[in-house]
Amino acid sequence: MIKVGIIGVGTVGTSVAQILVDNADIISARAGTDIIVKRGVVKNLSKDRGLDIIITDNVDDVLNDPEIDIVVELMGGIEEPFEVVKKALKNGKAVVTANKALLAYHRYELAELAKDIAFEYEASVAGGIPIINALRDGLSANHIESIMGIMNGTCNYMLTKMTNEGVAYDDILKESQDLGYAEADPSFDVGGYDAAHKLLILASIAYGIDAKPEDILIEGIENVSQDDISFAKEFGYAIKLLGIAKKDGNEVELRVHACLISQDEMIAKIDGVMNGISVVGDKVGETLYYGPGAGGDATASAVVANIIDIARSGKSTPMLGFAKPLDGELTLKPIDKIESKYYLRINVSDKAGVLAKITKIFEDNNISVETMLQRPATNNSANILISTHIAVEKDIQNMIKKLESLDFINSTPVMIRIV
Ligand code: HSE
Repeated sequence: MIKVGIIGVGTVGTSVAQILVDNADIISARAGTDIIVKRGVVKNLSKDRGLDIIITDNVDDVLNDPEIDIVVELMGGIEEPFEVVKKALKNGKAVVTANKALLAYHRYELAELAKDIAFEYEASVAGGIPIINALRDGLSANHIESIMGIMNGTCNYMLTKMTNEGVAYDDILKESQDLGYAEADPSFDVGGYDAAHKLLILASIAYGIDAKPEDILIEGIENVSQDDISFAKEFGYAIKLLGIAKKDGNEVELRVHACLISQDEMIAKIDGVMNGISVVGDKVGETLYYGPGAGGDATASAVVANIIDIARSGKSTPMLGFAKPLDGELTLKPIDKIESKYYLRINVSDKAGVLAKITKIFEDNNISVETMLQRPATNNSANILISTHIAVEKDIQNMIKKLESLDFINSTPVMIRIV
């Protein structure tokens, strides 16, 4: 029999304990042994979780219990779980975590510490989709050319509702929280950080890139408005928050931001809380992974799969995947060098000569306009909506700074990259 301790019995932890009971028959058949939760650790002992497990508020009751084989870390945060996981490994316990923020900062140190002890993290990326398994095992024969996809269920849920139902941003954010999709601090979702944490984990498996969130381009969906959504619809695009990893020679670009993506692309059709990730390998070509990216049961499905795996293979299956550097001498491409097509929404005072001045600034910064549209906003202001040909990030940023300084520009221009 395998005994599990769950640290953090919230939405996902409760589902993990429940799945181990509900599906005990198939789980023990697949694992070759029974698996039970011996103890759960919570911060607030008075809250009823409707579970038949022993609850404590002392993490050492799990970490120091010699009967517990696998510690499941679902606390959230970065430094506190790092200490907990280090202690669990030091005490010889296998670890399963869904904590992408922890891995975004400490994955290489943890791989080093774990050595021959199993350390699994399938649920850290894309909830219920077995994307770690696919990248680490199923595609291990390939050089990975690109990874691109929807990696945050909350943002995708919000953008879908804003697009299809015109629901206001704040109302949907609240709904995502009530449904258990959003992080404890939802600015991690809408600010793009959660997706960035996941992208860094995938980039480590695919390329051995040891970058931190601070090293890469991260933007969220806070500035996306109904104006942008209606421009997108008119020109055949959907707006999605994407994580993108792309190999270009010896460099890998890593970025998370809202994108305008053609409605014909498969990823553009992925709606609601669903995640969808495309991985292109040099031998296999494009593969696509789709499924629920957030929510208790979906995420717990991946956590329990890791528990079963460890029960089946023993505690001495090392954590694979975070080698460095892989694929020759790959380095992170500087943000300034990233190239893309861009969409800009510029709110201006509606008076003679404004358009000419704006197009001059585009020219001065080597940026070529592809389409342009002007829409009245209020009585004396208008939105100018522009898409560009391929341009360099540095030029776009310089141009936005220049535009911001002009007296006929009413607010900071909104920019969304086009994929
Ligand atoms: N808040 C995350 C999301 C949960 O919305 O995708 C899953 O990691």
